[in-house]
Amino acid sequence: MSGTALRSLLFVPGDSERKLAKGLASGADALILDLEDSVAPQRLGFARGQVLEFLQANAECAEPQLWVRVNSLASGRLYEDATAVLAARPAGLVLPKVDSYMDIERIALTLEAIEAGNGLAVGSTALLVIGTETPAGLLALPSYPQAAAVHRASARRLAGLTWGMEDLSAALGARARCNPDGTLRPVFEQARTTCLLAASALGIAAIDGVYVDFRDADGLRREGELARGDGFSGKLAIHPAQVPVINAVFTPSAHELDWARRVVAAFETANGAGVTALDGQMIDRPHWLLARRILASGAAAEPPST
Ligand code: COA
Ligand code: MG
Repeated sequence: MSGTALRSLLFVPGDSERKLAKGLASGADALILDLEDSVAPQRLGFARGQVLEFLQANAECAEPQLWVRVNSLASGRLYEDATAVLAARPAGLVLPKVDSYMDIERIALTLEAIEAGNGLAVGSTALLVIGTETPAGLLALPSYPQAAAVHRASARRLAGLTWGMEDLSAALGARARCNPDGTLRPVFEQARTTCLLAASALGIAAIDGVYVDFRDADGLRREGELARGDGFSGKLAIHPAQVPVINAVFTPSAHELDWARRVVAAFETANGAGVTALDGQMIDRPHWLLARRILASGAAAEPPST
């Protein structure tokens, strides 16, 4: 991956040296070194040390990007997590169990102090927000775009938004997530759709949540294709075997790239017209915008030139 689009983001428990090493070789566009739910509380201190060492040892590697999932603001552990790892310059922090935009604003202010204390540029730590893990967080997501317009410094940190069912199910006491036909039940479909809409309104990446059945590649591919079809640009992974499936799904096909190039070319020869025709179909600005997006994601998916 040579651009900034993240197709696959693989969670790696921060206390597992073996999985950290495996993650590097997985082909994921990003690793999310986890200090939260996959690490038992009594292992957190050890995990912070492991993650710091791993970031330092791989500081020169351009790929995969190395992100760190810290604990939530409410846990009381976020400050120590961030302090432990920020000096080693992770690509950014993943924020779980965000209850409202004010959480992001408070976290951004905390990060300003840690950045300044470590000689890092203030505002340089990017954020990927898991926006649907608490009921309050899901209800608050539609307010993010307006809040971001007011709180511009914290908004500039936002790189992406993702969603998850595990913690939301636990918070709701929900025992079932899918209908008998496999479609999501309304509350989880709302989480997914609201995440996508909020990310798009904010102009940041929409990343689809995890597919927990990590031995089922076909199911993962189907879910990934649905997500890409709706506009998600990448997907979280929990196992290295999921990475190639996700990368393939979120890389534009030769056919799509060809269509996108021909749309752009059609407008270049349309003498400034806002509407033209391609293959007997009307195309106008929305098609041009979609074509530009597809070309950008294709460029991001190309292997780096040496
Ligand atoms: N990152 C890196 N390596 C991983 C990995 C991951 N997320 N998941 C598995 N591996 C490694 C295993 O260590 C194993 O390597 P080894 O043969 O050298 O020991 C290999 O991939 C095959 O693993 P497998 O035996 O198929 O799975 P497992 O039973 O060891 O692990 C999970 C299953 C679910 C526990 C594991 O995939 C995992 O820890 N996933 C991440 C969970 C997580 O971070 N959750 C929080 C976000 S929802
Ligand atoms: Mg969780």
